[in-house]
This record gives sequence, structure tokens and C-alpha cells, in this order.
Amino acid sequence: MNIHSENGSMRESVACNLLVGMEPGFKLLYIFGAGGHGRELAWLTSQIWGSKVALCFVVDDAFVGNRKVDDISVRPLSSAEPSTDSRFIVALGQGAARRRAAAKCDALGLLPTALIHPRVEMSARTRVAGGAVICAGSILTTNVSIGEHVHVNIGCTISHDVAIGDFSTLSPGVHISGHVHVGRDVFIGTGASIINGSAAEPLVIGDGAVIAAGACVTRSVDPGALMAGVPAIRKR
Ligand SMILES: CC(C)(COP(=O)(O)OP(=O)(O)OC[C@H]1O[C@@H](n2cnc3c(N)ncnc32)[C@H](O)[C@@H]1OP(=O)(O)O)[C@@H](O)C(=O)NCCC(=O)NCCS
Repeated sequence: MNIHSENGSMRESVACNLLVGMEPGFKLLYIFGAGGHGRELAWLTSQIWGSKVALCFVVDDAFVGNRKVDDISVRPLSSAEPSTDSRFIVALGQGAARRRAAAKCDALGLLPTALIHPRVEMSARTRVAGGAVICAGSILTTNVSIGEHVHVNIGCTISHDVAIGDFSTLSPGVHISGHVHVGRDVFIGTGASIINGSAAEPLVIGDGAVIAAGACVTRSVDPGALMAGVPAIRKR
């Protein structure tokens, strides 16, 4: 399982807490999606950079209309202009939708950024790839690798030697113990726990698996499986 980015590199990878308190290096953030998660990421961005970064929601052209959400303009994606002064983030909670939206932004030549809330704890040995979002109150310890466009929602804990593959989603309050490899496009529901693997035998969650809210995963999971309950059993 490739637990890093699809192009083999950690594009715009940042060393953990280097974003917080730093100059953003760009002036405008396009947030793809103007729903609840979009408003959350607008708030998150203001928590990191205050008014140094202007915000603009972008949506598929069919959904636009002249409107504002929380005083932020909503514009068609096709109007977004690639520039070294702008970045994008995708604010869609579902990994497959996030993947499609990111591909559209990439095709326009827009550059992704990562967003890491100032109240995230992480070691200098944790890596976060472009497009990833780490929300308030999460703790990522050491030798953790977060792939492209991964979303780690509020209050998650991720222990040592964990890798999360591109476009995977951790809902609020997910806990992942050490030596766990989460594949790509995995969805983990609110409050789920994944127990530890070992250096010799990491616990592996296969690509595209779904872990139900509140589940406790005690062993490796096949790609595409739906696991639920305590201990988690395969439902599909
Ligand atoms: C796992 C989940 C995605 C499955 O949804 P679904 O595809 O519609 O599946 P179903 O509701 O048909 O459930 C399939 C089976 O899993 C069981 N199941 C689903 N969620 C469960 C849960 N959280 N705990 C225990 N069992 C669960 C169902 O009872 C059903 O079991 P059965 O086949 O024995 O009757 C959904 O239940 C879930 O937990 N979502 C998490 C939502 C969340 O955390 N969102 C965060 C937003 S920020």
C-alpha cells in the first residue's frame, strides 16, 4: 500500500508546526465548498493567519449565483486564477468528492496549501502534505505522515509511526494508536478507535475502507470493507 502521495512525493510537505505563526506566503485562499465544512475552514484559516489571507469560496459553476456566505464571496471555480499569491483547500467532508474537487483545482493550475490549527500539537518529525487539514485540539505525536488532502477533524489523537493515505478522513474524536497504516480514501467515523500494530506488523486499514462511528478496530481491515462495533466486525 502506498501510504504517501500518488505522485511519489509529499508535495508542499511542511514540517509540523512550521505553519503556525509564520507568514502565509500567499494572500488569497480559495475554499472549494461553501457549506458547513467550508465555513469551518474559513474560521480555521482566520485562526492561523488572521486577516493576512483573504478568503473566497469557490464552487462548481452550476451552483454559483451571486451570493455571499458569512460575508465571504462565493464564485465559480472557473473564475479562480492560478497565481503564486493564491492557494486552495477543499472543504468537502467526503473523500471521493474531495478527490474530484482537488483534481479540478489542479487542472486549473491552482496550488494547494495545508491548514493546521494553532491549537494542534505535533512533533517536528510529523509531516503534513499539501491540501491536508488538521483541526483544533488534535494531537499528532512523532513519525506521523499525513497524506495529500487528508482531513483530521477536531479532537483527534494520532500516535507514533502512523501514516494516513491521501484523501482519507478522520471525523471528530478519532483515536489512532501507534504503528497503524491507514490507506487512501478511508473514512473513519466520529469517536472510532484503532488499536496499535507493531513495528514488525503494522495494523493496516485498506484503501477505501469505512469505519463506523464509535467502532474499535482491533485488527487489520481489508480494502473497501465496512467495519462497525466494539470490537469492530465486518458488515460489508
Ligand atoms: C458506517 C456508516 C458510514 C454506515 O452507513 P451506511 O453505509 O448507510 O450503512 P448502514 O446504516 O446500512 O449500516 C450497515 C450496518 O452497520 C451497522 N452500523 C452502522 N453504523 C454503525 C455504528 N456506528 N455502530 C455500530 N453499527 C453500525 C448497521 O446497524 C448495519 O448493520 P446490520 O447490517 O447488521 O444491520 C455510518 O453508520 C456511520 O457510522 N457514519 C459516521 C458518521 C460520522 O461520524 N460523521 C462525521 C461527520 S463530521
